Amino acid sequence: MAFRLFEGKEHAAVYQKFRFPPPEEIKNTVLKYLDSKKKKPHVLAVDIGCGTGQVSRSLAPHFEKIIGVDISEAQLEEARKETNLTNVKYIKCHAEDLPADDGSVDLITAAHAAHWFDKEKFLKEANRVLKPGGCMALFGFTTEIDFSFPGVNPGRLTDIFEEVRQFINTYSHEENELMNFKSVFFITLLKLFFVCYRIENLPVKRPTSVSGAVGFIESFSVYQCFLRAEPSAAKATLKRIHQRFLEEMGVSSADTELEILMKYYCILTRKPE
Ligand SMILES: C[S@@+](CC[C@H](N)C(=O)[O-])C[C@H]1O[C@@H](n2cnc3c(N)ncnc32)[C@H](O)[C@@H]1O
Repeated sequence: MAFRLFEGKEHAAVYQKFRFPPPEEIKNTVLKYLDSKKKKPHVLAVDIGCGTGQVSRSLAPHFEKIIGVDISEAQLEEARKETNLTNVKYIKCHAEDLPADDGSVDLITAAHAAHWFDKEKFLKEANRVLKPGGCMALFGFTTEIDFSFPGVNPGRLTDIFEEVRQFINTYSHEENELMNFKSVFFITLLKLFFVCYRIENLPVKRPTSVSGAVGFIESFSVYQCFLRAEPSAAKATLKRIHQRFLEEMGVSSADTELEILMKYYCILTRKPE
């Protein structure tokens, strides 16, 4: 089943503005894994479900060429605006039908994206394009997200966020897809092609302003589904969370910094030689 939840131009602009780049810890782990499993040079990386290109751009210093691919033209348009890197190209295509020759790719990444793919077809395609010894990193943040600010009771801002999330989650497919992604079926399939190594719940702190935190929530595909279904209610919900954060923090400026704690998973795999 294909999900097309990232097609809107406004969503893509919000995505570009408020989504965080990949954590250094994850990027370094992926590159170290690749170095340990495959001899240099690392020529080609393909970043699948690249969205507005945060991961594709971060790989630029480490590869001769990076291809970011996505099914959403709106996301790719934002990605193209952001880069003057000559070794990063963006192509519209499906994860299940990649624009790369057999055995030509050193690294595949898919950040916050692989749970949306047709998992069986995608893994066959990844296996086709990877070089023997080539690696794949599937990573993202989990649904466990904490917000904090000095002097505010621990958990209080997170409770406000959770209240809103429970409410908008009625529009979500994502939780189910994340469950499928971690399911025995998927892991078994993955092991058929690749040698696997998993990192679970790597904590990453993100300092951001109140408007940044609210913008981050706005970038969620589930919020965008809510916005399409009930525009006034969705906008009012965002406004309310913004207001409640400021009140709890006892501040008036939306530029005030709070901290978001996110937990990352990363599945590292290598195609046997
Ligand atoms: C949550 S976004 C992640 C974007 C980016 N990787 C990041 O880390 O911010 C998921 C992206 O996957 C793309 N996507 C979903 N299904 C896809 C498929 N079958 N093939 C290619 N891209 C897909 C969506 O269009 C969307 O841009």
